[in-house]
Amino acid sequence: MPSRLAVLASGRGSNLQAIMDHFDNLARERIAKVVLVASNRADSPALIRAATASIDIASFDAGDDGAQLLALLRKFRIDLVVLAGYLKRVPSSVIREYSGRVINVHPALLPAFGGDGMYGARVHEAVIASGATESGVTVHLVDNDYDRGPIVAQWRVPVEKSDTAESLAARVLNVEHIVFPRAVEMVAMLQQLESNISA
Ligand code: GRF
Repeated sequence: MPSRLAVLASGRGSNLQAIMDHFDNLARERIAKVVLVASNRADSPALIRAATASIDIASFDAGDDGAQLLALLRKFRIDLVVLAGYLKRVPSSVIREYSGRVINVHPALLPAFGGDGMYGARVHEAVIASGATESGVTVHLVDNDYDRGPIVAQWRVPVEKSDTAESLAARVLNVEHIVFPRAVEMVAMLQQLESNISA
């Protein structure tokens, strides 16, 4: 049985698109499929992308303490929660119930340039200001410690001398689109292996 994925996204949803495209394939749809896209923003472009692909969408209140999100995840029998540009902290009730089954992408090489407030352009600005010659992509499991969960995959991306936060972000994003869907596939396969062994 394919793993049932919920993707949570707050913004433009290009990583969501990469994930939907990756699993829209005869071989890979047997490993995982996106069955729900949810957002804390009802006007998120990510929801439009999902609806265009005929995937169920939902939004929940900005002040949700986790109850609305958990109810959705249970209703859709979600196996794996994928954060793709999701800008809110995942409530601890969700982390508890989905321990080891929430996965995030971060546009830098964690543990560097992560933590509270490190998102979007701020990450790339900090990388450039530090003088680092490389940045990258990190895919990690999410726990209650911001950007500190176990790392699943990392890929390096060079920082050019002429880079602005925008040019670096674009180079990193291209790599996210390649690495993130494959890391999600790997985690889904490992979960299935684990549940087959314990069955
Ligand atoms: C990505 O750079 C991701 O690493 C970060 O937020 C951005 C989301 O972009 N967490 P998109 O909405 O997937 O286009």
